[in-house]
Amino acid sequence: MNKKPLKNILVTGGAGFIGSNFIHYLLKTNENCQVVNLDSLTYAGYLENLRSVQNNPNYTFLKQDICDFDALKAVFIDYKIDTVVHFAAESHVDRSIANPGQFIQTNIVGTYNLLEIARSVWSENGGFDGKHFHHVSTDEVYGMLMMGDPAFTETTPYSPNSPYAASKASSDHIVRAYYHTFNLPVTITNCSNNYGPNQYPEKLIPLIILNAVSGKPLPIYGDGLQIRDWLYVEDHCEAILKVIKEGTLGETYNVGGGNQFPNIKIVKQICAFLDKELPTSPFVPHENLITFVKDRPGHDFRYDINFEKIKHELNWQPKFNLNEGLISTVKWYLSNRDWIESVTGKPIFQEWINNNYSDRKVAK
Ligand code: NAD
Ligand code: DAU
Repeated sequence: MNKKPLKNILVTGGAGFIGSNFIHYLLKTNENCQVVNLDSLTYAGYLENLRSVQNNPNYTFLKQDICDFDALKAVFIDYKIDTVVHFAAESHVDRSIANPGQFIQTNIVGTYNLLEIARSVWSENGGFDGKHFHHVSTDEVYGMLMMGDPAFTETTPYSPNSPYAASKASSDHIVRAYYHTFNLPVTITNCSNNYGPNQYPEKLIPLIILNAVSGKPLPIYGDGLQIRDWLYVEDHCEAILKVIKEGTLGETYNVGGGNQFPNIKIVKQICAFLDKELPTSPFVPHENLITFVKDRPGHDFRYDINFEKIKHELNWQPKFNLNEGLISTVKWYLSNRDWIESVTGKPIFQEWINNNYSDRKVAK
């Protein structure tokens, strides 16, 4: 993977889950590029995720909001940015149901700001040659599948169901339009559910691990039969870098794990790993903590992603199987107590847990 040399790369949202894993991955691959991590540090952004690279001469952190057009433009100029990898977003579906406004601002307006600044600054500084704007998106833009429906391909019509998915769909359309109208050199990846280290414990897998360890109920929305496709975060990072270096401009690539399972099965698998890892815990068998609660409104039933295009064109496929990825994730959360205490000890985390779960009546 060595086609296009990277120079000054702007990573937005690099203090979050996938962004921080991507920065570690990038610095590990010795690309010898300058990485500028621009993140406004919302509740989901956590600089501790990058502690081990904070003094790396190839890494700079800037606390900034992608909705601040003028400040963002100055960053492009000051740091001579030639590549953008755009992760920054409001990313949690349940929060988009509780409070959609911020999703519209960050995911749509923020993405527009980045595109417009890239277009104007790059046009005025040598043109688009050697420049690249990569947009990180989601499989949720395609809507939901029923059992037996074929997996999402890059040509599946968009049909987003949650405010989160709709805001990401809008941003994808704007990115695509900047390619077609202005020839801005863009690529897009649409990926399925990631899991792994540094994931904020509002999402299913880390929430289940943390609740199980402390003997709290494991909240399963509805009947738990909804199906997601799971991908270990490092595989996603590798796919993104491949697309940046070898992908065709203007193209979209679906990225997936080939691991479609009902939520209840994933949760029971985590419980079984915890039973083995913590045999003396008073909460063994952890499965007894499973609690069915009121469903998510508009809950998408099933996602399945066809990633044949990136497999054949760029020779990418996931390296981690679900079993090993889940075991290593469980072990990461068990051995990073400081991270967990710091994240879950903040009032903003407890507020969310109270808001999202206290009114959910037990469903069964
Ligand atoms: P995350 O919520 O963990 O991190 C988001 C990061 O963006 C945080 O560091 C936050 O501080 C930052 N941010 C938010 N608003 C900002 C703003 N206005 N200005 C600057 N920074 C801001 O999200 P994640 O799970 O790492 O997802 C990253 C990207 O990948 C998102 O675009 C998401 O839609 C996409 N994605 C996520 C998944 C997944 O399973 N998590 C799957 C497919 C695609
Ligand atoms: O598909 C990609 C998407 O995956 C990303 O674009 C999103 O940013 C990311 O958050 C994720 O969205 P999901 O809604 O699928 O992830 P979440 O972890 O919130 O939920 C996974 C499944 O588990 C979903 O069917 C809802 C269910 N769930 C979730 C929570 C938080 C529960 O049953 N109980 C819970 O408490």
